[in-house]
Amino acid sequence: MDEIMKRGNTRKFKDGKDAPVADEAVETLLRAAMQARTAGNQTPWHFIVVRNEALIKALAHNSMTAGPVRKAPVVLVLLGDERGLSFPESWTMDLAAAAENILIEAEHLGLGTQWISVYPHADRIRHIRSLFDLPLEVTPFCIIPVGYPADRPIRLNHFDASRIHYDTF
Ligand SMILES: Cc1cc2nc3c(=O)[nH]c(=O)nc-3n(C[C@H](O)[C@H](O)[C@H](O)COP(=O)(O)O)c2cc1C
Repeated sequence: MDEIMKRGNTRKFKDGKDAPVADEAVETLLRAAMQARTAGNQTPWHFIVVRNEALIKALAHNSMTAGPVRKAPVVLVLLGDERGLSFPESWTMDLAAAAENILIEAEHLGLGTQWISVYPHADRIRHIRSLFDLPLEVTPFCIIPVGYPADRPIRLNHFDASRIHYDTF
């Protein structure tokens, strides 16, 4: 609960040379991702771990809000694979659950993150498909820059009692 309440979006990262993100930490994030529930346990995901600077620069141009990616030492690209799914309409929900697990585990490890949308924007999807030469059945879902925060993330409290309904709407 603490990680959920205190987490925030990181838009500025410490330089990866001064504050590197260890491979073990990245693996921990991906273990958290793959613990997410999925429809019929279909686990429709793949993850690309990007450390290559040229690729990170390219990802930072994926959309108007992808700028924070540029300074991140590691970027995770979450992909949905629609091949052989029992519940093809659910893959985006599965990927969202995995993404949220990554963000919460990152907070636990003291790492900053941001959720940058790719799906459902056709232009963003096309850009990442061509960057990584993805098959058409594999759709990029979001990109998550990961690094140690250079500034204190903004922490918003979204609790709104008026959105809770008891036995009626
Ligand atoms: C489905 C989804 C898509 C999002 N897409 C973006 C995005 O493209 N760029 C971005 O900067 N933040 C994105 N975010 C982060 C939200 O803007 C952010 O969580 C929201 O403004 C609330 O702020 P907080 O996370 O600091 O509480 C996205 C979050 C979700 C769940």
